[in-house]
Amino acid sequence: MSFHFNEENLEQIETLKKRYPSDAALALPCLWMAQYQEGYISIDAIDAISEIIGTPAMEIYRVATFYSMFNLEKPQKKVVQVCKTLSCKLCGSDEILEYLSTQDVELRHVECLGSCGTAPVMQIDDVNYENLDIDKVNAILKAL
Ligand code: FES
Repeated sequence: MSFHFNEENLEQIETLKKRYPSDAALALPCLWMAQYQEGYISIDAIDAISEIIGTPAMEIYRVATFYSMFNLEKPQKKVVQVCKTLSCKLCGSDEILEYLSTQDVELRHVECLGSCGTAPVMQIDDVNYENLDIDKVNAILKAL
């Protein structure tokens, strides 16, 4: 197994074990820690989480594959997630998606990013960018 949580994450996991009703409930926070540590979630990371929280690796894998925010492969480009749910679609996300498809980014269509009142919305590195139009998207990409 080539994945090991760093000391900071191991301490965090021990702290969370005291707050969660069961170790199995730590699957999501452990997946986030693995992704922040390595940039993605490898099979080795899933095995490590399985061992730490005493849950079959297949269950951890099912959780990791259910949520679109988890990277199961290391992204080769900047990941840009664009909401394609109703509010964003009505406010122009199709145009944003079409434009971004011509840019040098890893484009992902995702469900609601929880900011429907400021649609259309995209997310980069856990930051939501709201009330988008093509000019605003261009400025955001240039600033990265
Ligand atoms: S519908 Fe796009 S953020 Fe909710």
